[in-house]
Amino acid sequence: MKRGFLILVGILLLFSALMVGYTLTQTYEFNGYVLPQPVKAPEIALRSADGAVRLGDFQGKLVLLYFGYTSCPDVCPTSLANIKLALADLTPEEAAQVQVIFVSVDPARDTPEALGRYVKMFQDDFIGATGTRQEIDWMVNAFGAKYIIEAPDEKGDYSVSHSAYTMVLDRNSYYIMNWAHDTPSIAMSQDLHYLLAHEIPISAQILAGPTYTPVVCAVTLIPAHVRNGQWLYEHHCAQCHGMDMAGNPQWQVELADGSHLAPPLNGSGSAWQYPETDLLTLVKEGRNLDKPIHMPAFKSALADWELEFILSYVKSTWDVNQLNYQHGFMTLTPNPTATPAAPLAPLITVTPSP
Ligand code: HEC
Repeated sequence: MKRGFLILVGILLLFSALMVGYTLTQTYEFNGYVLPQPVKAPEIALRSADGAVRLGDFQGKLVLLYFGYTSCPDVCPTSLANIKLALADLTPEEAAQVQVIFVSVDPARDTPEALGRYVKMFQDDFIGATGTRQEIDWMVNAFGAKYIIEAPDEKGDYSVSHSAYTMVLDRNSYYIMNWAHDTPSIAMSQDLHYLLAHEIPISAQILAGPTYTPVVCAVTLIPAHVRNGQWLYEHHCAQCHGMDMAGNPQWQVELADGSHLAPPLNGSGSAWQYPETDLLTLVKEGRNLDKPIHMPAFKSALADWELEFILSYVKSTWDVNQLNYQHGFMTLTPNPTATPAAPLAPLITVTPSP
């Protein structure tokens, strides 16, 4: 009896350890196509039955944008109905943070009023908007979408071919992802749920400040690598670069023989300014090996994957600007962070599918 109980406890413990391990290492895969480079919504005022609509007006919410037209026989109604179903899977609090906007690429037939009536057949708070041909072209091009007004038949009726995906704009009005036409509503609501709970993925964290080119941070920091990297760092690097990566306090002083003490590796130093490969080479090959104080070569002491782990840990102290810069996604040099950035959370892998 007692033994059976112990075995049961053992099994339960093992199971919960596995569960913890699983949740720590699991990464979320979006059901849509995540743009390698998010696109800032253009500042165009479209017209709706209730007045002007700018995509930027919905900052703080996720916007689901769809290009279509009201005479669209089946694709648009299916998409709108699907979006409605996806929203119905969310809690009311979540759904309140999502705005659906249907933009007509057929302004010749779709007046703002007709559009308003059309979208309300699906859901009361959907917005229908349109603009001049020029405004629409501008927006469609900015988002890399397409449409073609087909030749009219003898009665003058025409159809419009258009991109049939639903576009997701993050809370800062950046277009970050789209769902193909046949994406099930449950897959969409899963993604929305995730986006609402975790904000935008790190790969889409955008720098909207005027000094930075808005770019994506496509750096993937895998939590397990960061944690293992920390252990390795503490055993191989911390004695010179410090437990906090702040370097030797005297690192800027040039010693008599021209050598330097270990510099910071966190955001206050300049390690983030080296391209990825240079950084790895530096750690593998060392630097100033002829000087008494030098950066030792680690190529025979540590395997490449161990060095990658260490660098993941080092990177977890850089801010998004620095990560972007290091990976060549940002041209302007950000200011070094005076205080090291808090470790990045949440850490997510985003694998864009072509
Ligand atoms: C024995 C001390 C020592 C150890 C251990 C050590 N380093 Fe260094 N490291 C240095 C010194 C000294 C420099 C500066 C050398 C120079 O100026 O050429 C340096 C420079 C660097 C730089 C270049 C930074 C910059 O801003 O130019 C990087 C990156 C680096 N080390 C990473 C590491 C990593 C990663 C580890 C652990 C795997 C490590 N170091 C272990 C002493 C050390």
